[in-house]
Amino acid sequence: MNKEIVVSGIRPTGVLHLGNYFGAMKNYVKMQDEYDCYFFVADWHSLTTHPDTKALKGSIKRVLAENIACGLDPEKVALYVQSDVPEIAELYLYLNMLAYKGELEKVPTFKDKVRLSPDNVNAGLLTYPVLMASDILIHRAKYVPVGKDQEQHLEMARNFAERFNHRYTELFPAPYAFNFKTALSKILSLDGNGKMSKSENAMGTLYLNDSDDAIIKKIKKAKTDAGPETPNSEKPEYIENLFTLMNLVSSKEVVDKFENDFNTCNIRYGDLKGQLAEDMVKFIAPIREKAAVIENDEVYLSKITKLGADKARARASETLQMVRKAMHMFN
Ligand code: TRP
Repeated sequence: MNKEIVVSGIRPTGVLHLGNYFGAMKNYVKMQDEYDCYFFVADWHSLTTHPDTKALKGSIKRVLAENIACGLDPEKVALYVQSDVPEIAELYLYLNMLAYKGELEKVPTFKDKVRLSPDNVNAGLLTYPVLMASDILIHRAKYVPVGKDQEQHLEMARNFAERFNHRYTELFPAPYAFNFKTALSKILSLDGNGKMSKSENAMGTLYLNDSDDAIIKKIKKAKTDAGPETPNSEKPEYIENLFTLMNLVSSKEVVDKFENDFNTCNIRYGDLKGQLAEDMVKFIAPIREKAAVIENDEVYLSKITKLGADKARARASETLQMVRKAMHMFN
């Protein structure tokens, strides 16, 4: 039986952190057996903010290496770089004719970017959702495993798909956000200020390439307090977060012990942090080391990106043929 198609894009910016791992990557890894997965590095999207393109190649390699180190299997999924699949650009051109300036200007992520960098409101930024729709529709995908912040973009992808279907031929299924059966772990920053971040708040964020020392230092500095005064108190958010992290990397016995200490007002946060740091190092170090090896293995990386591009292009060119036919173009 044909498996259902899943697409997701990863931006090649910054180093991945624990929030990315438990929020997205772990689920990608779980999906690879059950679905026909197309995962790619969105390098064209990153151009919208005018990065230093000389550094882009390095970021792409880093992201690929990290994803593989976390368990994505390039033999099972199509793991590719967006710019290796020119079919996406052609579909983007067609979809741009179905996208209206007014609706694009209303997108919250666009408005944010305009506010943050008023000097770089380029057309690529405005049509970011059209390119994203092309990434998805080029594979006629049904599911897109993304976070809440991408809902609006997905809704636009559905609108473009519907408009195309209506104007030409019923061709694209409506793509929906993939909902995981288990709730995603929400991981906060260690200092209690917001979420872990790729670009801000480095001391509060555990990166997948942090050294053992950095991991230990960051966890030691994590925000705590004098401890609860009454048994079975509710945990403040920053303490809850330390327990969330512990649940992800420590054994059940360890978690139970500290839960019990907390509930009986005997908790020693120094001990909790020591244990958490030890278990976190055991979790992150192998990923870091594996990613470093892959990142420097040019031969392997070019082999797997070629394999990924071939798989993606096979599907993409099939779609594009259907699109051209529906539009009565070139045949
Ligand atoms: N916009 C997504 C993000 O910011 C990245 C992305 C680009 C994407 N194209 C996609 C995600 C297609 C899912 C499907 O994270």
